[in-house]
Amino acid sequence: MIKNEDLIKKANKEIEKNKSLVNSDYYRLKYHIMPPTGLLNDPNGFIQFKGEYHLFYQFHPFGTNHGLKYWGHYKSIDLVNWEAMPIALAPSEWYESHGCYSGSAIEDNGILTLIYTGNVKDKQGNRETYQCLAMSEDGVEFEKYKDNPVIHNQPKGYTRHFRDPKVWKKDGIWYMVIGAQTIKEEGRVLLFKSKDLKSWDMVGEVAGSNINNLGDFGFMWECPDLFELNGKDILISSPQGIKPQGDLYNNIYQSGYFVGKVDYKTGNMQHEDFVELDRGFEFYAPQTTLDDKGRRILIAWMGLPEEEDHPTTEKGWIHAMTIPRVLELKENKIIQKPVEEMENIRKNLAKYENIKINSSEIMLENISGDVLEMEAIFEVDDAYEFGVKLRCSDDEKEKTILYYDRKMQKFIFDRENSGKGYKGVRRCYIEDKKKLKLNIFLDTSSVEVFINDGQEVFTGRIYPDKQSLGIKFFAKGGSVILKELRKWDIKPVF
Ligand code: FRU
Repeated sequence: MIKNEDLIKKANKEIEKNKSLVNSDYYRLKYHIMPPTGLLNDPNGFIQFKGEYHLFYQFHPFGTNHGLKYWGHYKSIDLVNWEAMPIALAPSEWYESHGCYSGSAIEDNGILTLIYTGNVKDKQGNRETYQCLAMSEDGVEFEKYKDNPVIHNQPKGYTRHFRDPKVWKKDGIWYMVIGAQTIKEEGRVLLFKSKDLKSWDMVGEVAGSNINNLGDFGFMWECPDLFELNGKDILISSPQGIKPQGDLYNNIYQSGYFVGKVDYKTGNMQHEDFVELDRGFEFYAPQTTLDDKGRRILIAWMGLPEEEDHPTTEKGWIHAMTIPRVLELKENKIIQKPVEEMENIRKNLAKYENIKINSSEIMLENISGDVLEMEAIFEVDDAYEFGVKLRCSDDEKEKTILYYDRKMQKFIFDRENSGKGYKGVRRCYIEDKKKLKLNIFLDTSSVEVFINDGQEVFTGRIYPDKQSLGIKFFAKGGSVILKELRKWDIKPVF
């Protein structure tokens, strides 16, 4: 095996080598976490440690495919300004020879401890799965636990699709949820417990396909997360193998949550229906942390498994993270809002009030661009459809449309004509209350739109021409009033 330091050196060399190519890409984002080169996927080890936020990520430095995974690392004092840190984990040991897979972080007596899956495949393609620890005093240099792995393969009745531990402490005991698959190929989330993080016992099954009246719900549940919000237990997971149902489940794999109550004696969770966290395109494997302000903050991979063809691959990199969102629970539904620190990078406010749009399309002075935040409040008169077109080319061949269809009572994100890259349309029901508020975050190659103060969120990557900067508001079949419009440019973080 190659030594840890040597693997890291090799990866750093690759980063250095590709730097100018990667940085020549117009689609490099200005305020979203990206890999320095190669591929980024799941957020890992999201934690606030000694007052600073740390976010690790699944990282393949040597290509834009899902190769051998390392843990990359960023840190931040405010969740907005991120500093790239040295690589935290490299797959140097026998128990992780095919990658340091996803996991989480906790603080244990002042030590930042990572818990992750060591992935092993032998020459015949047989898989082994090991849960491992790595510790750090300074939050920068990590040392793997000498008696790794702490869990060897899966419990009886499950396959080796057993990974992505998320750990937390409750009443003095460490608990872990982990993604699993039964030998009948049904997705599961399992609960484990431990006194010392080193020796673990299975408690039971939390949820899964064909249990708790859920019906058929996929062959594998990846990246679970379990936490309390407003007195309820929330289970987040990324189930694989759910068929599309109308507007639901249209991406290759889903990410969503259940609200309910976990019985810590049996592990079982009584829960309501699965709800998708994001109604758009690229969104997967979200992970949360609780910060010292008591906020439950979520970051997700702004990408999807098996989407390996984004135009950025030509420039040696692929994928990014979403902006951080704060979760709240209202009437058993999760409301998601951008962290308020996003306001720290606003600049150049442009503002309008009470603009009537009557069966037409308008452009407004100072409202255009590619890296910006916009808040728009619409009041509906009699239009049957209204919204905004972003990243429009002069001839409008290119455009990304966010709009509300009052007949269907649906909000729609249409990237059929967004430029290069994946296409498609996503829709979600939103009751017509004759008022709609949009909070849009636009970056060089991404859109995130928070609707009605976080009732729904749509996320997607788009790859328009860099000259396509037009923004147009429109109403069809009558009028709407753009009650309030505020737009800020965003100070680049990267
Ligand atoms: C989810 C996932 C995890 C795994 C990791 C490997 O995207 O497949 O289940 O730990 O990615 O990179």
